[in-house]
Amino acid sequence: MNIRVTYRHEYLRRIRVGYIGCGGHSYRNVLPTFAYCPIDLVATCDLDADKARAFARQFGAERFYADYREMLTQEALDAVFIVTGYDRQTRKPLYPPLAMDAMQAGCHVWMEKPPAASADEIRAMMAVSEQTKKFVMVGFKKCFFPAIEKVKDLIGREEFGHVGTIYVRYPQSIPLPEQMRRYEPPAVGFLDHIVHPASILVYLMGDIQSVFYERSPNGSGSALLKFANGATGVLHLTAGQSGTSPLERLEVTGSGANVVVDNGIKLTYYRPGARGAYGRSSHYFGADEQAPIYWEPEFSLGQLYNQGIFLLGYWGEVYHFAECVLNDRPPRRCDLRHALEVMKLYEAFKQPPGMVITL
Ligand SMILES: NC(=O)c1ccc[n+]([C@@H]2O[C@H](COP(=O)([O-])OP(=O)(O)OC[C@H]3O[C@@H](n4cnc5c(N)ncnc54)[C@H](O)[C@@H]3O)[C@@H](O)[C@H]2O)c1
Repeated sequence: MNIRVTYRHEYLRRIRVGYIGCGGHSYRNVLPTFAYCPIDLVATCDLDADKARAFARQFGAERFYADYREMLTQEALDAVFIVTGYDRQTRKPLYPPLAMDAMQAGCHVWMEKPPAASADEIRAMMAVSEQTKKFVMVGFKKCFFPAIEKVKDLIGREEFGHVGTIYVRYPQSIPLPEQMRRYEPPAVGFLDHIVHPASILVYLMGDIQSVFYERSPNGSGSALLKFANGATGVLHLTAGQSGTSPLERLEVTGSGANVVVDNGIKLTYYRPGARGAYGRSSHYFGADEQAPIYWEPEFSLGQLYNQGIFLLGYWGEVYHFAECVLNDRPPRRCDLRHALEVMKLYEAFKQPPGMVITL
C-alpha cells in the first residue's frame, strides 16, 4: 500500500516514547525513522550514560537516563522502544524482562528481534500483555519490506488462485542439534538470523504445522515446511554462498500465477497467462495484458521509497506501531503471536535432521 508520508512535525497527535538501547542499529536504522512518524522522543536510555546523552542530543529527546526503571518511573510515556541486543553472560536476548517491566509500567512495547531465546519466554510476555492490556510488536522488518507487502497483496488476489508453495532463500548455517539444545554460540547466530526468513514465512503463509530438514556437511541445508493452510514451502539455508551475492530470493506459486522477489526489491509478477502452442510458436511474447509485471525502484530522485530505511521495512514497522498506539489497537502483524510461531520454527532445529517435526 502506498502511504502518503507525513513528516513528524506535521502530525497533530504524536505518541510519547522512551527509548532503551543506544547502539549502532538504533543510530543507523530505527531512530532515523522517527522523522516520518507520529512520535515524540521524550527520553533515551543506555547503560552508558554518555551514549544516552549523545543520542538524546542527536535525535531530539528532552532527557536521558542510564537506568530504564528510573525512566519508566519518571516519565509519562505511551510506549517504549527496546533495542538492546543480548545479555553478555547468558547470551540470551534482553527483551523479555525489559518488555514485561515496560508493560507493567503502563507502556506498549516495540522491540527488536530476536524477541527471546525460547517460545516459553514469548508465552510469558503474552501473559503479561493480557494482564496489562498493553501490546508488544517485534521488529520483524522483512514483513514491512515494500516488496514483501506487495507479495502479500498479490497472493491474496482472486486471480492468483489458491497459494500452493513458497520458497525462501537465506544464507544461514544450521547448528548441530546438541549446539541448539545447549544454546551454544552457533545457536545464538542461528536465532539472530532465522527470525528473518521465518517471519516472512509466517506473515505470508500463516502457521507452520511441521518441518523436515536436512543439513549438509558445511552447515547449509534445506527445510521442507507444511503450513496449517495445506500449502508447502522450502526454506533454503545457503550458508556457503558468496559474500558478493544478494542474500535473499523468494517465490510464491498460486494456481496459474507466481511471484518472485530477488534481493528484497526486484519483484516480478507472472500473472495468469499462456505460452504459445508447443512446437508451433515462433516467439515467446504472449498477449500484452498477460505479460509479466516487473518492478524495481528508481534511484535518481530524492524520494523516500528509494532510501534504505524505507526499502528495508524500518519505517514501515515503526510507523505501523505508532499508528497502533495512537489509535489504541494492537498491531496486525509482528505481534507476540507471530513471534511465537517464529520461535517454534527456531526450536524445531533442536531435533535431529531427517524426521518430520510437528510444531
Ligand atoms: N532488524 C535489523 O535489521 C537489525 C540490524 C542490526 C541489529 N538488530 C538488532 O538490534 C539489536 C541491537 O543491535 P546493535 O547492533 O545496535 O547492538 P549494540 O550493542 O550496538 O547496542 C545495544 C545497546 O543497548 C544498551 N543496553 C543493553 N542493555 C541495556 C539496558 N538494560 N538498559 C539500557 N541500555 C542497555 C547497550 O549498552 C548498547 O549501547 C539486536 O537485538 C540486534 O539483533 C536488528
